[in-house]
Amino acid sequence: MSKILVVYQSFGGKTKSLAEAAAAGARSVGAETVIKEVSAVSADDFSGIGGVILATTQPFQSMAGGTKSLFERLWMGRDKIKKGIRLAIIICHMNDTKPTEDSIKAIAGHLGLEQVAGGLTVKVDEIEAGKESARQLGIAMAQGG
Ligand SMILES: Cc1cc2nc3c(=O)[nH]c(=O)nc-3n(C[C@H](O)[C@H](O)[C@H](O)COP(=O)(O)O)c2cc1C
Repeated sequence: MSKILVVYQSFGGKTKSLAEAAAAGARSVGAETVIKEVSAVSADDFSGIGGVILATTQPFQSMAGGTKSLFERLWMGRDKIKKGIRLAIIICHMNDTKPTEDSIKAIAGHLGLEQVAGGLTVKVDEIEAGKESARQLGIAMAQGG
């Protein structure tokens, strides 16, 4: 089964709780799973993984600065990142997520990550339902979906 990396950026904890639910889902079906806050992640963390779940907020209608910094670090270390690692995104939001989704999609392409369909967008006032969806996403990623 694929090793799964779960990365999160969160101001107040809601996005973190979604990431934790995704990690719990992946672990529940036996996948080796590592969860890290975005500032602690580097290209080295992508060694040996089959999939990455990235959970971010979207302040000012774009991905959070910490998330963008991660992508910039990954770009600098892109030689260490195997092509075809699956990427699923979780966006915790108040408003339209399309700008954030579009920019993550473009960056994922630059890095050779294969973005899976069915990423999750969770409104700040629907976190409990979002956690269950995140758990299911973790299971699907662990099982190669
Ligand atoms: C300074 C700031 C600006 C924000 N601006 C937006 C925004 O423009 N659009 C949006 O959908 N969410 C916005 N949010 C909400 C975040 O996307 C996120 O959903 C919220 O912070 C809850 O997640 P958290 O508990 O993980 O921090 C903003 C949050 C902060 C702190």
